[in-house]
Amino acid sequence: MRIDVAGASLHVEVRGSGPTVLFVHGFPLTGELWSPVAERLAGERRSLIPDLRGHGRSGVGEVTGLRSHADDLVAVLDATGVAGPVPVVGLSMGGYVALELCRAHPERVGALVLVDTRAGGDSQEAAQARRDTARRVLEQGSTVLADSMVERLFAPSASPELRRRWHELMAATPPEGAAAALLAMADRPDSFATLRDFRRPVLLVVGAEDAITPPDEARLMQEAAPHARLEVIPEAGHMTPVEQPDRFAEVLLDFLREVR
Ligand code: MLT
Repeated sequence: MRIDVAGASLHVEVRGSGPTVLFVHGFPLTGELWSPVAERLAGERRSLIPDLRGHGRSGVGEVTGLRSHADDLVAVLDATGVAGPVPVVGLSMGGYVALELCRAHPERVGALVLVDTRAGGDSQEAAQARRDTARRVLEQGSTVLADSMVERLFAPSASPELRRRWHELMAATPPEGAAAALLAMADRPDSFATLRDFRRPVLLVVGAEDAITPPDEARLMQEAAPHARLEVIPEAGHMTPVEQPDRFAEVLLDFLREVR
């Protein structure tokens, strides 16, 4: 379905039936990240999978920090008839957005699943590097991002098909969308306090071979939220849901069944 919100038309996949789960993809990815998982959940859960503004099949509009994405998620929930809190599953930048949603609209988040992500903000150097990358993407296009990211996204065992497909999807990201997301990530706050204060169930998932947000980042989050469960998935890099969809769906469903 398509949802018009704040100057952008968002593409949202709605899959399966049952209690709703909201999925948030990373940068510069698309909702396709969650397809294999939604397929495995379809008998038990309804998956809402938006392409964030500036990514995939969604329009770009204006992005003012991660808050724009968090507000868009609320619009997606409203448009699909969800009034109460739901589990929110976010990978990498999707995790930053999920934590922003906890700050801006805590009443919409029933449980948090943070996948291949981190709670810390950027160092000054990292933020500057993102701003430089944003400039380069606007000048040269998103292929520069796809080229620089594709190898680091996956565990060494990932198939060439998977790498090819995601290179293609990343390269198709509108440069204005990618640049806006880079600037939003550069300005994001530290989220450890948000995580510590989040009193509902938390699941942390990380690929054992994630080179972008390694398992140590997940361990730091678990220290901040000792009630969180931590699952380290073997033979997965930063793209756990597409690299190990069976194992990921099993871990997620176990958690969702418990938090009902
Ligand atoms: C992502 O996968 O969303 C990004 O790599 C996150 C980041 O650059 O911090």
